[in-house]
Amino acid sequence: MNEFGTLLQPDKGQAAIALHLVDTGRREAWLNAQPARARHAASAQGFEGKPNQIAILPGDRDHWSAALGVADAGMLGPWDLAKAAESLPEGKYRIEGAAPGAAALGWLLGQYRYDRYKAPKDGKGPRVLLTPEPARIDEAVALADATALVRDLVNTPAGDLGPAELEAAARQVADGTGAIVTVTSGAGLEEGYPMIAAVGRAATEARAPRLIELEWGDQRAPRVAIVGKGVCFDSGGLDIKPSSGMRLMKKDMGGAAHALALAQLVMRFNLPVRLHLLIPAVENAVSGAAFRPGDVLRSRKGLSVEIGNTDAEGRLILGDALAKAAEAAPELILNFATLTGAARVALGPDLPALFANDDKLAAALLDGGTGTGDPVWRMPLWGEYDEMFASDIADFANASDGGFAGAVTAALFLRKFVPEGTPWAHFDTFAWRASSRPGRPKGGDALGLRAAWSALSARYVR
Ligand code: BES
Ligand code: MN
Ligand code: ZN
Repeated sequence: MNEFGTLLQPDKGQAAIALHLVDTGRREAWLNAQPARARHAASAQGFEGKPNQIAILPGDRDHWSAALGVADAGMLGPWDLAKAAESLPEGKYRIEGAAPGAAALGWLLGQYRYDRYKAPKDGKGPRVLLTPEPARIDEAVALADATALVRDLVNTPAGDLGPAELEAAARQVADGTGAIVTVTSGAGLEEGYPMIAAVGRAATEARAPRLIELEWGDQRAPRVAIVGKGVCFDSGGLDIKPSSGMRLMKKDMGGAAHALALAQLVMRFNLPVRLHLLIPAVENAVSGAAFRPGDVLRSRKGLSVEIGNTDAEGRLILGDALAKAAEAAPELILNFATLTGAARVALGPDLPALFANDDKLAAALLDGGTGTGDPVWRMPLWGEYDEMFASDIADFANASDGGFAGAVTAALFLRKFVPEGTPWAHFDTFAWRASSRPGRPKGGDALGLRAAWSALSARYVR
């Protein structure tokens, strides 16, 4: 459990260790202004003011301070302080002559650990940062909490996080907010959400599939639907994945984790919206009851879908969830999913693919990503590719035969369940970081969350 709330505190002139922010452009001038012993210490530690370099500088008596290299000392990005927060010893710190700004987030997340199964190696106490901008503490802490929620959920192995545990996580987020959580499973799921039931059928006995819904906020406020893919484990189903492709599939509920974290932010900041969160939660497993290639499913919306590949399961469960969201006529729908390997082939692990049927919404999300250091990249809803997943016997299939434009065809499949004219955006995100960066350890991660939050909070101003 990460307690970010105590790691940023208002600066009231408490005793604290000074942090000097230095970039390569300002290094010379900064060095010249330092006492000789600090200059020598910096050079002995090879300090050049490059990003993420840290030098400990001796002061009077038992005092010391630290120099931190950053890209641009005049304009901090979210991760500029993360390495320092990771490396420095327990204590209170203050940036000399500057506020942390956006970098407060990285200060917090530099202290994130996933410690459910083993104690952290360093076992260090808290590194507290004093800030002259107390009004900005809340948002930094909320964003760190939301990011940690995504990371914790994604990092938790499928054995300990099935549909039931995902439901419990949603209930925990709802707790104390006045939100109403509704869960549909069993006969109600078979009846109302045939595609969610079909994907979850092989695991029904042990890990019953369900649709988790959360509603919150003033009924008269504009309705916003947030939908997240909650495949707690994706074996591929009968079209089973090879072991290499299956290894990371505990993270296939990453979209649900993003959706839940975004909902948490919406509620925490009391956005003037009527929130509708929908998480179809299943395990895509193998058993005699499994849905099969060639099966035809009748969807909630009434469209028939031929199964070309049981491993294209995310779009099926999302189709029914999007259809349900649409029934309440929201003015905006946001969807998050670890939907395709093809999006990763196209954009790599760091950039979520953004699909949107509305240019204004897309622009707001792209801007939100740029402004918060959480970039996303737009890809086209190229309608002509609808023909790639045509079916001989059903309205369409869930997968195409060729391997072209896999992220696009998956998004086009989702679009079939979104009402025309309703602004909708879909994030095809990796929800995972394959190698560590400051403040972003290897493992589950939120990618696209701040982009979405930034756009949402700008659109719905209190
Ligand atoms: N969950 C996977 C997509 C995925 C794989 C995301 C690896 C991130 C990393 C999804 O359910 C899937 O298996 N998609 C298939 C679709 C194909 C069968 C049409 C894919 O992308 O290969
Ligand atoms: Mn799959
Ligand atoms: Zn999947």
